[in-house]
Amino acid sequence: MKNGDQIPLLGLGTWQSAPGEVGEVIKNAIEVGYRHIDCAAIYGNEAEIGESLSEVLSAGKVARKDLWITSKLWNNAHRKNDVRPALEKTLSDLKLDYLDLYLIHWPVVFESGVGFPSKAEEYLPLSEVPISETWVEMEKLLTEGLVRHIGVSNFSVKKLKEMSEYAQVMPEVNQIELHPLLQQKEMHTYCKDTGIHLTAYSPLGSRGRSESMKKASEPNMLTNETIQKIAQERGCSTAQVILSWSVCRGTSVIPKSSNLGRMKENLAAADIELSENEMQSIGTLDEHYRYIDGKFWEIKNGPYTAASVWDE
Ligand code: A2P
Repeated sequence: MKNGDQIPLLGLGTWQSAPGEVGEVIKNAIEVGYRHIDCAAIYGNEAEIGESLSEVLSAGKVARKDLWITSKLWNNAHRKNDVRPALEKTLSDLKLDYLDLYLIHWPVVFESGVGFPSKAEEYLPLSEVPISETWVEMEKLLTEGLVRHIGVSNFSVKKLKEMSEYAQVMPEVNQIELHPLLQQKEMHTYCKDTGIHLTAYSPLGSRGRSESMKKASEPNMLTNETIQKIAQERGCSTAQVILSWSVCRGTSVIPKSSNLGRMKENLAAADIELSENEMQSIGTLDEHYRYIDGKFWEIKNGPYTAASVWDE
């Protein structure tokens, strides 16, 4: 980060980490060495994560300064008076007095109080609640020290460029879907050139998400031939090849797992250094394929389409 803070490149995703299970997952994660936990208000599990964080911190198993905790502002709290209360709720649930990173979760706005809209009127267009209105409030949270860094998620290069016209502080992070089938090379170059750090979500293709969010047939990166070949040659797993590809590109990566064996396996990927040849052969796999395609924001007569969200 610009102030010298370090974001651990291999973090733990908590989307789809089930209530009743996630508390144990967090304690195990910290025990085996995770220091970066990615959360969000809408995942519905921050209170349980907070119980575990409080337990490990008060037991002295880890110091707060050695943890990197990210959370995200949900789409129903973009209006200027809603941002701070949303952050305060997250801090209270996580039992923390500051976050390392707070992100605007999506460039999509809902009416206050709406979790997931079921009709077009529950959406608000960006022309009515612009990102600039929300961003001013994010900057205030930074000034007050309630969050150490601010950023965005699911933002296009176009939207980042628009922000540079009004932001006093540019987003330090953009968290987006990134993996060998969605390499986002233009974004990667733009962020490198402008000092924005990228975090890769759904790095393994998010196979655990609900069936309603999946397409009839989806590519499975874990059985991709090129990735399998590299894994066999190295004696590691295909998931590790994919995760180390992210780390070798200089992005952080937040695989979700609730399984202790796979959590350890994923963390160990941070120590694998792929060769230039291996990076190049993974580089050829790009299909611009989105598992999280944004079509779930489309509703008849609504203000958003997947194309307007991604600007493509
Ligand atoms: P589980 O929690 O049972 O380990 P993503 O991070 O792309 O959203 O992917 C998360 C999904 O991938 C979850 O279903 C998770 O299941 C599974 N997963 C996580 N790590 C691995 C791994 N090393 N190998 C295979 N599947 C994994």
